[in-house]
Amino acid sequence: MSQRWSSRKKSRLPLAGLLFMLVVTVMILFNERTIHQIHFHAATSHSQILPQASSTFNFVKPNLPANINLGAPLEVLDRFSRCNSTKKYSEKNIRLVDPYEEEEEEEDSSGHHGPKEDQCDVFSGKWVFDNSSYPLHKESDCPYMSDQLACQKHGRKDLDYQHWRWQPHSCNLNRWNVTDMWEKLRGKRLMFVGDSLNRGQWISMVCLLQSVIPRDKQSMSPNAHLTIFRAEDYNATVEFLWAPLLVESNSDDPVNHRLDERIIRPDSVLKHASKWQHADILIFNTYLWWRQDPVKIRWSSEEKGSCEEVKGAEGMEMAMNAWADWIANNVDPKKKRVFFVTMSPTHQWSREWNPGSEGNCYGEKKPIEEESYWGSGSDIQTMRMVKRVLERLGPKVSVINITQLSEYRKDGHPSVYRKFWEPLTKDRLNKPASYSDCTHWCVPGVPDVWNQLLYHFL
Ligand SMILES: *[C@@H]1O[C@H](CO)[C@@H](O)[C@H](O)[C@H]1NC(C)=O
Ligand SMILES: *[C@@H]1O[C@H](CO)[C@@H](O)[C@H](O)[C@H]1NC(C)=O
Ligand SMILES: *[C@@H]1O[C@H](CO)[C@@H](O)[C@H](O)[C@H]1NC(C)=O
Ligand SMILES: *[C@@H]1O[C@H](CO)[C@@H](O)[C@H](O)[C@H]1NC(C)=O
Ligand SMILES: *[C@@H]1O[C@H](CO)[C@@H](O)[C@H](O)[C@H]1NC(C)=O
Repeated sequence: MSQRWSSRKKSRLPLAGLLFMLVVTVMILFNERTIHQIHFHAATSHSQILPQASSTFNFVKPNLPANINLGAPLEVLDRFSRCNSTKKYSEKNIRLVDPYEEEEEEEDSSGHHGPKEDQCDVFSGKWVFDNSSYPLHKESDCPYMSDQLACQKHGRKDLDYQHWRWQPHSCNLNRWNVTDMWEKLRGKRLMFVGDSLNRGQWISMVCLLQSVIPRDKQSMSPNAHLTIFRAEDYNATVEFLWAPLLVESNSDDPVNHRLDERIIRPDSVLKHASKWQHADILIFNTYLWWRQDPVKIRWSSEEKGSCEEVKGAEGMEMAMNAWADWIANNVDPKKKRVFFVTMSPTHQWSREWNPGSEGNCYGEKKPIEEESYWGSGSDIQTMRMVKRVLERLGPKVSVINITQLSEYRKDGHPSVYRKFWEPLTKDRLNKPASYSDCTHWCVPGVPDVWNQLLYHFL
């Protein structure tokens, strides 16, 4: 596999690539689940967020100015970066320091995680078929649709997947109102930061919003590290920043990135933060890129080319802590809203919801009805880690907990109804499940509801 990836120089197929990696990842995780978990327990027990008075572990404060060490400017990681030596993990870790921690947080009655009004948990509910109000927009009306997500255009005939409404058990979601959403965005920058799942949510948001803006009053910058949709009359932007691992990495080019050898700089979030720091509303995600072991890490204090190796889950915790450190030190919740979107589930194994079957999401037309269904793709240890990190940030960040509600939506993925950039062999074409995308989501569809949840909290 690594040969396969590294031989592809001008990879214009990051999305198909991610998919391929995920299939493999899930397979690996499935077979080595116990080993993986044992290791993870070991990892979490020594990487507590609060530095213990343990002399064995060496904590690093992230975000050092780029050229603090040795007077030499730091090499910036890019897709050509390689590790020419890999050492054992030094047990160094990221230290999350909240400068306001000691101050008495004035009790903000709006609370932090989740809903303001009453105690309704909007993430607990069920899908209700509603073909009068859904979909909230039409696929063919959106000039910014991605060929990766345009399922109808690519031949999907069963369209029920567009007609489901999320109904919380004990309250209603605010109805989507595009004018009202634009009023909330007036004069502001809304920015999504993350991987291709987050990009799907961004495309859904742009498609939801663009319909009421005259064509000559809207624009989209070319696809780049930062891609920007502008609405002139509202003086507002809806942006997407590609940062699949949150911290600086060798995969920060949105088109040419490496999947086989991910290298991160766990103590550097500034490279991306410099792009997102002036946004008014920020929506982050990260998860799937950490699902494959190992991840190489390169500390800023290390000489060029020298790496250490950790498990994906450990790397993710380091990245989350570096990110959290930035949030803790730079976000005033009265001026900036920050959201974190939890893991997006995959549906690679139909036996998980239909024991005895051997497929995946291909051919699925209805959501799962079993309450609390949870598939193997959504790692519970990782969720606990995310929860711990977010809780430490208190009112500075709100959770959009899409995991459970999206778990039900085995019908919501593109499967074969999307563009594949890689030529498909006859063999695979004969077995649609073998190349189905059960990771991303059709738009219109599930990501529209994620955005409706965001709207609910704004
Ligand atoms: C909506 O769904 C109902 C029940 O499935 C069906 O009878 C009706 O024809 C549908 N309407 C439209 C406009 O698709
Ligand atoms: C949508 O929001 C606008 C602006 O806040 C408001 O004037 C309008 O009545 C709302 N529409 C509906 C259907 O609620
Ligand atoms: C547009 O919004 C930006 C903030 O994103 C603000 O700095 C600028 O003054 C606004 N311009 C106008 C004309 O309102
Ligand atoms: C390791 O690679 C870097 C470039 O990434 C190079 O500058 C450095 O000299 C190499 N070190 C050794 C020991 O080969
Ligand atoms: C998201 O919801 C699940 C239950 O559906 C819960 O177990 C998990 O802790 C929540 N995650 C966060 C970060 O709050």
